[in-house]
Amino acid sequence: MKVINIGLIGFGTIGSGVADYLFKNASGLNKKTGFNFKLARIAEKNSKKVPTKYKNLLTSAENVINSSDVDVVIELIGGINPAKDYILRALRNKKHVITANKALLAEYGELLFKTAEKENVSLKFEASVGGGIPIISSLGDSLIANEIESILGIVNGTSNYILTIMEEEDIPMKKALAIARNKGYVEKNPLLDLEGIDSAHKLAILIKLAFGFMPKFSRIYCEGITHISSLDIKYALESGYRIKLLAVAKKKSKDEIEARVHPALLPLTHMLSSVRGVFNAVYVKGNLVGEMVFYGRGAGRMPSTSAVISDLVELARCLINKDCLCRKYRIISPQSLKSIKSLQCRYYIRFMAVDKPGVLAAISGILSAQNISIANVIQKERGAAKSVPIVMMTHEAEETGMQKALGKIERLKMITDKPVCIRVEG
Ligand code: HSE
Repeated sequence: MKVINIGLIGFGTIGSGVADYLFKNASGLNKKTGFNFKLARIAEKNSKKVPTKYKNLLTSAENVINSSDVDVVIELIGGINPAKDYILRALRNKKHVITANKALLAEYGELLFKTAEKENVSLKFEASVGGGIPIISSLGDSLIANEIESILGIVNGTSNYILTIMEEEDIPMKKALAIARNKGYVEKNPLLDLEGIDSAHKLAILIKLAFGFMPKFSRIYCEGITHISSLDIKYALESGYRIKLLAVAKKKSKDEIEARVHPALLPLTHMLSSVRGVFNAVYVKGNLVGEMVFYGRGAGRMPSTSAVISDLVELARCLINKDCLCRKYRIISPQSLKSIKSLQCRYYIRFMAVDKPGVLAAISGILSAQNISIANVIQKERGAAKSVPIVMMTHEAEETGMQKALGKIERLKMITDKPVCIRVEG
């Protein structure tokens, strides 16, 4: 049995999960796969985190990258620096690399994949999107015969959890965020979750697999959930929709892709609408298979460990066959990302307005001047508050016209708050 020596960099949530899995289950895994997996070295800045049973493996990241007896480097420290440098140097030292680092892949994927190809080694990243859900290998391998038409993903568990409890417990965003923090769900930088950046990182990786090119990350439209209120969640439900933070990629023409992250109203009948709490799901439509949904735990110690171990076994096969996986993914010449300005969709809009004659006429006049047709409108009863909510659903309209109309409506005297506008998907 070929011994596969593993060098682990980072002993955090996932790193410790991988180490513990190998410690307890290596012999079972070896039986299942015919390899001999051996955790050879661990690099962790904070050595206090590493239990005594692993102390003899503790070393520096330099040592993991440079040791001739390490076959596979697993990078699980996250963030851009120093992870980028570690991975590049490990690849240049002809080591296969596994990473869960979504931000790094989204920003520097092109450089990392090119380096792996040049050095004839592999870079694997199953845990970077959807935690334990095997979405990377499904898009990269199982669905390779398909032209992917669209992907819709709930790929950030934290924001999905926040939206879920805002609905279920009828609480404001601030309170929901505090609960999510208490449960340890929120990233160190909460904006990654709340502003949709983490979802956009994952979307960039999914685009690489589904459409064959690494998009320029800054060109992905990204809007988070911070402006979503329990009021809109309630009104959306009354109309048969649920608000979800979606990562969307759609093939629009031979060389154009739509790539966007934003909250969206999804019909309650859509499969992604029932994804609750921290769960993730990715809906894929391929020309041969039609619609599919991949659902499961998008984060966490053992689901992510499951993904890392699957990468490890595939790399072991490469090592045996003296092969690499760099040519495994679709290779298509870069395509351009369509600007959000040309998006065509239906919209949910809510205005807070003084309850006076002429308000609806003024709003609908502005919308119609931008060629936006209203599908339905509900004005809620006036309570004690000075202003009343006016909730509208539009027919399909263009983003540019919608933004112009919203700007004009916001400036009307009878409008008391910034209008809320949420795209409708599905
Ligand atoms: N912050 C991420 C999430 C962790 O909430 O999904 C998993 O990538």
